[in-house]
Amino acid sequence: MERGSGSCFHGIVCHWLVLVLIWLCGCQHVLSQQTTLKPKDKFLLSDPPIGLFDPIEISPSVLPHNTNPVEPLSPMYPNYTSYDPVLTGKCHVNFSDLSFIMDKTASDCSVPLAPLVADVICCPQVSSLMDIFQAAYGGGNNTLVLNQASANACFSDIMSILASKGANTNIPELCTLRPSNLTDASCPVKDISSFERMVNVSKLLDACSSVDPLKECCRPVCQPAIVEAAVHISSGGASMFGSTTIPGSAAGINTVSDCKGVVHSYLSMKLSSEVANTAFRVLSGCKVNKVCPLEFDDPSSVVKACGKASSRPSCCTALQSYIATRQKQIFVTNLQAINCATMFGSMLQKAGVGNDIYGLCDIDLKDFSLQV
Ligand SMILES: *[C@@H]1O[C@H](CO)[C@@H](O)[C@H](O)[C@H]1NC(C)=O
Ligand SMILES: *[C@@H]1O[C@H](CO)[C@@H](O)[C@H](O)[C@H]1NC(C)=O
Ligand SMILES: *[C@@H]1O[C@H](CO)[C@@H](O)[C@H](O)[C@H]1NC(C)=O
Ligand SMILES: *[C@@H]1O[C@H](CO)[C@@H](O)[C@H](O)[C@H]1NC(C)=O
Ligand SMILES: *[C@@H]1O[C@H](CO)[C@@H](O)[C@H](O)[C@H]1NC(C)=O
Repeated sequence: MERGSGSCFHGIVCHWLVLVLIWLCGCQHVLSQQTTLKPKDKFLLSDPPIGLFDPIEISPSVLPHNTNPVEPLSPMYPNYTSYDPVLTGKCHVNFSDLSFIMDKTASDCSVPLAPLVADVICCPQVSSLMDIFQAAYGGGNNTLVLNQASANACFSDIMSILASKGANTNIPELCTLRPSNLTDASCPVKDISSFERMVNVSKLLDACSSVDPLKECCRPVCQPAIVEAAVHISSGGASMFGSTTIPGSAAGINTVSDCKGVVHSYLSMKLSSEVANTAFRVLSGCKVNKVCPLEFDDPSSVVKACGKASSRPSCCTALQSYIATRQKQIFVTNLQAINCATMFGSMLQKAGVGNDIYGLCDIDLKDFSLQV
């Protein structure tokens, strides 16, 4: 308690601020886009606002070395025996050409894991599958999207095949997924020849043919190229600010978002599904890592045990048990864990806990993350 107020706040978040500062230093050029976490009363962080240009702020030095986040969990996967799915017969695509991506998606969304890893692993993978599927379906027919009728049939077939390979049947709910995710309906450009007329495709392919997982989050190359192409085609190829659909308006944002789907579909058509999938997963990984997905509800047990005149053992017991139950909510990445620790630290500080209890109780990143 006698800690000077000048020395790194009250010390509680000091530990983590240092980490975060180190982390930010790796990304100085994007510092201006850094958003501060402001825990609200309920201590619930919503998704980051989706802007046209997602802020990207991750240093290679803290990226997990394992670029495949599924690896550490694989022993938990049951060895599932697949069965033959019943298909609609109305989705005209050769699914055996897509077996790599279907298998990967089914395993990333397997029954026991999907709810835990939805935002981090399952949904990004499903989203990537949608893009790759659109390209596989449309390629050869000069189109980058499905029409609504095909989308309905194919969506149903995709879900049946995934389920037959052991995936959770709740994917549509878990990932807010609908057949319309295959149509990108509000984007005005849907066919390959218009796309290639409007977009500098060599520039796009240069930027996205090999996405470096360590660099892309910090010094994005592919993401801005996708956004640029999406904004361009969303205005029908007109100049960015000369169109009736103003990027930034609600309608404009939906259109650009659908057009991003079209750009992804184009990339999927030009790249192998492995390469496209890796690229998309890296891009969504950069986004996912910016927030803490844990809900820190009612920390009063910790505040009480760790407030004034508290004893160290009871404080640490309360803290450890609180964090342990939060940690089980959901799978978080190392980078999210930093955000979680920072956020929870400042929350406790606001509630009057003045000690550096992370240091006191030997709490570190591992305690916030199942992954490390
Ligand atoms: C699961 O895998 C283990 C070893 O890999 C094997 O012994 C067992 O038979 C498998 N079970 C099923 C249901 O396939
Ligand atoms: C689907 O593609 C596989 C190879 O990727 C091929 O062996 C098979 O004959 C194709 N099926 C149809 C119906 O075209
Ligand atoms: C599907 O589209 C909805 C908007 O219609 C979007 O919110 C959702 O994230 C998309 N799902 C995936 C997995 O891309
Ligand atoms: C190709 O496009 C035409 C016209 O949009 C459509 O009628 C046809 O079903 C499409 N074929 C495939 C395989 O999607
Ligand atoms: C496309 O982009 C490249 C840079 O990647 C540039 O050299 C080229 O001139 C551009 N082509 C057109 C038609 O703008």
